[in-house]
Amino acid sequence: MFEWNEKLSVGISEIDEQHKKLLEIGRKFVDVLESTESGYDEYDELRKLLANLYNYTEYHFDYEEELMEKAGYADLHSHHIQHEKFKEKISEIDLDELDEDQYIYTMEILDFLSNWIVNHILKIDTQYKPIVLNYLSKEN
Ligand SMILES: [Fe+2]
Repeated sequence: MFEWNEKLSVGISEIDEQHKKLLEIGRKFVDVLESTESGYDEYDELRKLLANLYNYTEYHFDYEEELMEKAGYADLHSHHIQHEKFKEKISEIDLDELDEDQYIYTMEILDFLSNWIVNHILKIDTQYKPIVLNYLSKEN
């Protein structure tokens, strides 16, 4: 889970690096899950991780969207909506419930995260690849 492989490459090195960083945050949730399974209280760590996740995705989504806009990508709006839905989902996590049942909740977060990141990269991000690559080749 959350391992990088070449199939996930969108051919734009900066974006690939940012996606790797997202996967890295995902792996940190796995570590915390293991710790909660052993009965440790990881609430503070979970809150920190969620804040990290939110802030980093916001930075990454903005970066992607700016590139798509510069490249004149036609489906920017629907892509933007996908990004907004992700941020909404993360910000809607009930921290009290998370605190109450850290193991179960972390597992749910992980389930959502692992599916979302990989599906989004493979099905949504790859769609802007040719247009953005074309734009970047003219830029340089
Ligand atoms: Fe995206």
